[in-house]
Amino acid sequence: MEFPVRLLVLIALYILPVTVQGDVRKYTFNVVTKQMTRLCSTKQIVTVNGKFPGPTIYAREDDTILVNVVNNVKYNVSIHWHGIRQLRTGWADGPAYITQCPIRPGQNYVYNFTVTGQRGTLWWHAHILWLRATVHGAIVILPKPGLPYPFPKPHREEVIMLGEWWKSDTEAVINEALKSGLAPNVSDAHIINGHPGPVSTCPSQGGFKLSVETGKTYMLRLINAAMNEELFFKIAGHRFTVVEVDAVYVKPFSTDTILIAPGQTTTALVSAVRTSGKYLIAASPFQDAAAVAVDNRTATATVHYSGTLSAAPTSLTSPPPRNATSVANSFIGSLRSLNSKNFPANVPATVDHDLLFAVGLGINRCHSCKAGNGTRVVAGINNVTFKMPTTALLQAHYFNLSGVYTTDFPGKPHHAFDFTGKPPSNLATMKATKVYKLPYNSRVQVVLQDTGVISPESHPIHLHGYNFFVVGRGSGNYNAKSDAKKFNLVDPVERNTVSVPSGGWVAIRFRADNPGVWFLHCHLEVHTSWGLKMAFLVEDGNGPNQSILPPPSDLPKC
Ligand code: C2O
Repeated sequence: MEFPVRLLVLIALYILPVTVQGDVRKYTFNVVTKQMTRLCSTKQIVTVNGKFPGPTIYAREDDTILVNVVNNVKYNVSIHWHGIRQLRTGWADGPAYITQCPIRPGQNYVYNFTVTGQRGTLWWHAHILWLRATVHGAIVILPKPGLPYPFPKPHREEVIMLGEWWKSDTEAVINEALKSGLAPNVSDAHIINGHPGPVSTCPSQGGFKLSVETGKTYMLRLINAAMNEELFFKIAGHRFTVVEVDAVYVKPFSTDTILIAPGQTTTALVSAVRTSGKYLIAASPFQDAAAVAVDNRTATATVHYSGTLSAAPTSLTSPPPRNATSVANSFIGSLRSLNSKNFPANVPATVDHDLLFAVGLGINRCHSCKAGNGTRVVAGINNVTFKMPTTALLQAHYFNLSGVYTTDFPGKPHHAFDFTGKPPSNLATMKATKVYKLPYNSRVQVVLQDTGVISPESHPIHLHGYNFFVVGRGSGNYNAKSDAKKFNLVDPVERNTVSVPSGGWVAIRFRADNPGVWFLHCHLEVHTSWGLKMAFLVEDGNGPNQSILPPPSDLPKC
């Protein structure tokens, strides 16, 4: 090469990686009602573009996504891009009254965000009322152009959304519950890509089919969009290799059962190892707290080998029972960050904020709650039941509005009790809008401790704006002295939603490098409705690119 040419190439090589931006991908989400028939009965549901599940968003790492959400229904609407880090763009995160006021009927809002440092499967869902029951879809983030997956390329990829279906209107279900003070009705079916498969009450309905060819490998992008239930997922006669969770690569491992909590995503490879036939796919609930009501129906779908004519699918060795704690623990125990040179696990080795959050239920007085005998079930963190503000917290923070929230969210329970043992005599909680303030770039540890109030129960806790490392997990009460010694600070799984085990604890760590107001809540919608939620307020840093960007001009007003 001539010298000037060589110089140009060299310059280009240095500049390109920093200056090349991803593509801009534009979507329109029309929020509209649509009639759907499931379980042999018909109802109106709220959907995006008339689709259920909703449309998949495809992007590559570094792409910018613009979604124009147009609200054509009678409800206020907002959409959350679950797991997208939203670096400095909290305005596009979506939880109503936390980062934005809702989009009113007849109005629209353009969510504008860039996908940075993430690749894999995530999802989007409504983040107001119980609309997410039917307003949800997948987000697929492909690697940067020219970058292969760190595992063999699959023949085909398939999104698999798990959910729950109620025959009645889901807004009526939660409204009825909040009026009575008691738990909402459990769903009438689990669903796989929108379909329950044949059930005894409606044997004629079909189900989702996955067509395969012998010898090929398929990538399943699994999403648990269920409202209130953790799920087991199995395919008769086949095993999975799990390669990624919550858009972070993991050390691949083989399993015949996947456990997935509401909010979580799991990408797994399945090899078509059979020569022909049809094999049952099953999604069934995991709930090891005996006192908690559960929808015990199994959703089914089928894997079809090409050329197979036989009618009946090869049945599944029965799905795990609802209380299969050991199956759940063995799956969770297998999850490790890939922690390779290209995808390191940057676990904070020490912490600046060491928090203990007791998560669980409570009982408050409610004079109008006849069914609940003058009381209502509530939920909270450190005895605080989160009260939804009427002005979004992020606006209040950015524009310095006073009186919307206080910054005294307790970093420890006020009264420590035997969390997983005998509950205290007073089960009442305080209702307030409190946030916990974190300086930019501080290192945070949160031990999430389940309580046995009313009943111990697994809580899938989701943090907005961040991934965290799950450094430890155990049963009973967390012991700071002995348990912290056993933390995995080398290759703990990195994710955005983690289940606090029933009657146990889980410890997470993250670096507060994303300024804004970030919701943390139980992803069981019933518990969110009852108040099991709080927010972190992460302050701006002093450096360039360390502060929240200004709000977009079309940000909805309250
Ligand atoms: Cu997927 Cu705040 O939720």
